[in-house]
Amino acid sequence: MTSNILKFIYKNKILEIKNPDTNETILNYVRTKLKKTGTKEGCAEGGCGACSVVIGELEENNIKYKAINSCISFLPSLEGKQLILVEDLINNGELHPVQKAMVNYHGSQCGFCTPGFVMSLFAMYKNYSSYKEEVIKDSIQGNLCRCTGYRPIVEAAKSLNKDKKRDFFAKDKKNTLKLLKKIKNRSIKIIDNNKKYFAPKFVNELNKILRSEPNSKLISGGTDVSLIVTKELKDLNSLIYLNSIDELNYIKENNKFIEVGASTPLIKFESFIKKYFPDFSEVLKRYGSVQIRNVCTIAGNIATASPIGDTLPLLLALDSQIIVKGQNKTQILPINGFFTNYRKTKLKKGQFIHSIRIPFLKQNIFKAYKISKRIDDDISSVCASFNIEINKDKIKKIKIAYGGMSNTPKRAFNCEKVLVNSNLSYKTISKAKKLLEKDFKPITDTRATQKYRMEVAKNLLEKCFLEVKQKKNIRING
Ligand SMILES: Cc1cc2nc3c(=O)[nH]c(=O)nc-3n(C[C@H](O)[C@H](O)[C@H](O)COP(=O)(O)OP(=O)(O)OC[C@H]3O[C@@H](n4cnc5c(N)ncnc54)[C@H](O)[C@@H]3O)c2cc1C
Ligand code: FES
Ligand code: FES
Repeated sequence: MTSNILKFIYKNKILEIKNPDTNETILNYVRTKLKKTGTKEGCAEGGCGACSVVIGELEENNIKYKAINSCISFLPSLEGKQLILVEDLINNGELHPVQKAMVNYHGSQCGFCTPGFVMSLFAMYKNYSSYKEEVIKDSIQGNLCRCTGYRPIVEAAKSLNKDKKRDFFAKDKKNTLKLLKKIKNRSIKIIDNNKKYFAPKFVNELNKILRSEPNSKLISGGTDVSLIVTKELKDLNSLIYLNSIDELNYIKENNKFIEVGASTPLIKFESFIKKYFPDFSEVLKRYGSVQIRNVCTIAGNIATASPIGDTLPLLLALDSQIIVKGQNKTQILPINGFFTNYRKTKLKKGQFIHSIRIPFLKQNIFKAYKISKRIDDDISSVCASFNIEINKDKIKKIKIAYGGMSNTPKRAFNCEKVLVNSNLSYKTISKAKKLLEKDFKPITDTRATQKYRMEVAKNLLEKCFLEVKQKKNIRING
C-alpha cells in the first residue's frame, strides 16, 4: 500500500499528517506544530545533541529505542515509528527515573543541553539492563554540555543502576507494540508543493521509482544529505528514502565474506564487526555519536566519497567490494577505484548501493587508527588502515589506505610495494615512511596542516609495525 499520509505514534495515539513538508526537520515540527519546546536547537548540524529525541522502532516483537538528532532528520522519516520527546517522560506529574537522577545529582546548570542528555540517557535506560561507565560515556558522546561538566551527569546515570526499571513505557509496551504493528509496512509517496518524497518498502519498488525519477536524491540516514537543507538552506525537491527497506537492513556472512545491506545502521555493524576486526569497531565507536550511528549507514559514507569518510580507508585496506544495482543490472565493483575524484564515485544516475562485501582474512593482521582533535564526535584529520599477511617475520602481502591525505581516500601503493617481501626491519619501515610522500600530497585546512597530516601518517605506519613486532597495541588516544 502506498500512501501520502505519514503515520507515527505519539503519546499512545497514531498521528496522521497528510502531505507533510518533506524538507521539514522533526525538530521544527515538534517545536512549531506540536508546540513542544523542551527539545532545543543548538547547532542544527547533528553536533551538540540539544535536539535529541527518542524513536521507538519495531524490532521483531520488541521495541528498540534510539536517540536521534531531530535537527537533521526529516519529518517523513518518522513513518511507522514512535516519537518520544522530553515532555513525554513525565507521567501523571511524576518525573521519569532519568529526570529524577539528573535532579538528584545536579546534572544541570543553564539547562540548555539537559533535555538532550535526558533523552540520550532515556534511550540507554531502555536498551541496557546495567549501566557501566563505558555504556554511559558512549550514550552521551553526542551531547555537549558547556556548564555542568560531565561528572555529575555520569554520576546521575550510574545511580540508575539502583532503579527497578519498570517505567510507564514498560507498562504501556503491549499497547505500543500493537500500534506499531498496525502502521508497519506502508510505502510513502508524497507529491506536494513541487516537492516529491518516496519511501519504498521493497527493492523492487525502489527500482521502479528510480526508473521514473532518476534525478531524485537518495537519502539513507540523512546525516550528510540533510545538511543541504539545514546548513546550505537549499531545498531538496525529490528524495528517495532508503532506510525503510528492510530487505537492505541485514548483515550476513559465509566463510569468504561479510555482506552488509545498504540500509543497515552503522551502530548494528559496529557491534557485529568487533569479533572479526576489533580495530574497525574501535574506529566506529568514535564515528560521530550514538545519535548519528543509530541512523547513518556505510553505504551513505561510501556514496559521499568524502576524503575523511572514516569507513573508507578501512574498506580499502580490506579490499572490499560494492554491490551496485539499478538500470536493470547488478555490478560488483572493487572499492579500489570506486572514488573517482573529490566527492565523486562510479555510481551513475538510477543506480544505488545495494550492499558491501568485506572479505574474511583469517591469517591477516588488520589495524586501523583514527586521529582527530577530540576523541568523540569529531571528524578525522587522518585515518589509516593496514591489512598485513606475515609469514615467518616476512611481509607476504600488504594493503595500506589513508583518509585525510588526498582528495579521495586512497591506497598507499608506493609504500606497499617497498614493504612486500621485506622483513620488519627499522630500515624498511623508514624507507616505507618516506614513500608516503610519493603516495600523498595532503592539504592544509581547518582540521590540520599538510605537514601535520604527513607526519601523523608516517607515525601511524611506524606505530602499526611496532605493534606487529611487539604483538601488542600501543595506545595514543585517551
Ligand atoms: C555530527 C556528524 C558527525 C559525523 N561524524 C562522522 C565521522 O566521525 N566519520 C565519518 O566518516 N562521517 C561522519 N559524518 C558524516 C556522515 O554521518 C557519514 O558520511 C554517514 O555515513 C552518511 O550516511 P547516511 O546514511 O546518513 O547518508 P545520507 O546522508 O543519507 O547520504 C549521504 C550520501 O550518500 C548517498 N546515498 C545514501 N545511501 C545510498 C545508497 N544506498 N546508494 C547510493 N547512494 C546513497 C546520498 O544520496 C548522499 O549523497 C558525520 C556527520 C554528522 C552530521
Ligand atoms: S541542534 Fe545540535 S545536534 Fe541538533
Ligand atoms: S547545563 Fe548549560 S550547557 Fe549543559
